[in-house]
Amino acid sequence: MASHTRPLAIVTGASSGIGYELAKCCADYGFDVLIAADEPAITEAAQDFRTRGAAVETVEADLATLDGVDQLYATAKGRPVEALLANAGHGLGHGFLDQDFHDVRHVIDTNITGTLYLIQQVGRDMRTHGQGRILITGSVAGFMPGTFQAVYNGTKAFLNSFSWALRNELQDTGVTVTCLMPGATETAFFARADMLDTKVGQAEKDDPAEVAKTGFEAMMEGEGDVVYGWKNKLQTAMANVTPASMLAEQHRTKAEPGSGEQ
Ligand SMILES: NC(=O)c1ccc[n+]([C@@H]2O[C@H](COP(=O)([O-])OP(=O)(O)OC[C@H]3O[C@@H](n4cnc5c(N)ncnc54)[C@H](OP(=O)(O)O)[C@@H]3O)[C@@H](O)[C@H]2O)c1
Repeated sequence: MASHTRPLAIVTGASSGIGYELAKCCADYGFDVLIAADEPAITEAAQDFRTRGAAVETVEADLATLDGVDQLYATAKGRPVEALLANAGHGLGHGFLDQDFHDVRHVIDTNITGTLYLIQQVGRDMRTHGQGRILITGSVAGFMPGTFQAVYNGTKAFLNSFSWALRNELQDTGVTVTCLMPGATETAFFARADMLDTKVGQAEKDDPAEVAKTGFEAMMEGEGDVVYGWKNKLQTAMANVTPASMLAEQHRTKAEPGSGEQ
């Protein structure tokens, strides 16, 4: 990295969507950024962050694999990481029995296994240094059984829960853990999950820049979690008092293949 006068942030999934906007927030705030994604688009994103004054390093790796995470961690070369924004993730539409198990596993390995492995590596260093901020991108999806997106919602329920537990374990260490829980957001997410023919895939969605700003600010404030937007806040409050069977049925109406307008 060219400059070491700025603190370092690692942002995963920074090539597009919410992660791209999170990395922008980091650069504008004064962080250098180490960014990772799975495709060459990450190098184009890096140019944008450089124009904002950040020294940027990129890693193109599949963060569903431990090797990919090792590659990312090694690129920091022992430089203290002040902020880890563990955001990379993806969904998978259609009925569970109709999904390819390879794809199922990739969702779990990206959203859970790779995310946790990275948080453990970086989190240990943060604890040793007595400071650090961790932002995990969970989801309001973690509040409801995800009919026709069942595995994804399960991974986000895991992350929402894990985030609070880790936060509590790290109290008094100087390391904070924050969970950003977006609702449906206008990114490549629904195309990648093959859900463009669904009601939720076609609905109007939140602005990823606004979602990211909310998450970044919550992380900097050291808050436990943040749900973006009043509609999503209402949805999560209702989910807490609604039977799971009803939530699963509601999710079907939004995520069933063909539920959108053709
Ligand atoms: N959009 C929504 O409605 C919504 C709502 C709640 C939560 N979220 C969460 O927000 C996060 C960001 O998603 P997004 O909506 O911004 O979608 P997105 O535009 O598709 O961005 C996903 C990012 O994650 C990266 N990524 C995915 N799998 C990866 C892997 N195995 N290895 C490395 N990088 C990987 C992608 O890079 P490549 O393209 O290079 O693979 C991309 O940079 C995800 O965790 C998602 O679950 C999204």
